[in-house]
Amino acid sequence: MFIDIREITKTYQMGMVEVRALRGVNLQIEKGEYLAITGPSGSGKSTLMHIIGCLDTPSSGTYFFEEKEVQGLSEDRLAEIRNREIGFVFQTFNLLPRIKVYENVELPLLYAGKKTAEARVKSQEVLEKVGLKERINHRPTELSGGECQRVAIARALVTNPGVILADEPTGNLDTKTGSEIMMLFGNLHKEGRTLIVVTHDTEVSKYADRIVGIRDGVITNENAKF
Ligand SMILES: Nc1ncnc2c1ncn2[C@@H]1O[C@H](COP(=O)(O)OP(=O)(O)OP(=O)(O)O)[C@@H](O)[C@H]1O
Ligand SMILES: [Mg+2]
Repeated sequence: MFIDIREITKTYQMGMVEVRALRGVNLQIEKGEYLAITGPSGSGKSTLMHIIGCLDTPSSGTYFFEEKEVQGLSEDRLAEIRNREIGFVFQTFNLLPRIKVYENVELPLLYAGKKTAEARVKSQEVLEKVGLKERINHRPTELSGGECQRVAIARALVTNPGVILADEPTGNLDTKTGSEIMMLFGNLHKEGRTLIVVTHDTEVSKYADRIVGIRDGVITNENAKF
């Protein structure tokens, strides 16, 4: 199993109050699968995505990524997975506001040790793919929400990762741009990549092989296909 999540919990301690964001999640994802995750606000979707993306650790339970138990991996190996194997589109974009669009997109390549010239070519290619050719010299503060979202998608794609995790990737986009992004995701899926997409948009989840619902930190309708 490519991604194997067993009885994962995540509890945040807020002073005296415990927030149980995940309460025992079981989820298995095949390589090359296109999975949509849906659920109400606060149900634990982003928390789960952060754990899948090795950006956060669960409070209990086990997580196997490519047959390896993530809790047992070294920091270096985890950084490598985050850098090369997974592309993450955050719900909040996480773009650096002071540097230009193309520099934001180059960053993962520079972290991975690529030369500046190569990074520049790749970042321009991928920005073109998401329809932002005319905006590469802007800073994120000079872009619309939907444009920032597309920069975040370009940044996730630039390292050519096998797994793409996207948290509401079309949340701020108009219908036309949203469907362009979904077409792009559809192509990535056809190329054999694994896609995990959080969405409340039924148009988006239509493209997925499988839709998983989450409510109050537990999976409610695994294997639902419609
Ligand atoms: N860093 C944190 N510290 C404390 N509580 C948190 C933290 N992050 C999330 N939570 C809480 O955990 C629960 C799940 O949050 P999460 O962000 O996973 O929800 P979500 O399903 O992504 O919601 P949305 O659709 O609004 O993005 C929420 O009740 C939230 O308030
Ligand atoms: Mg969220």
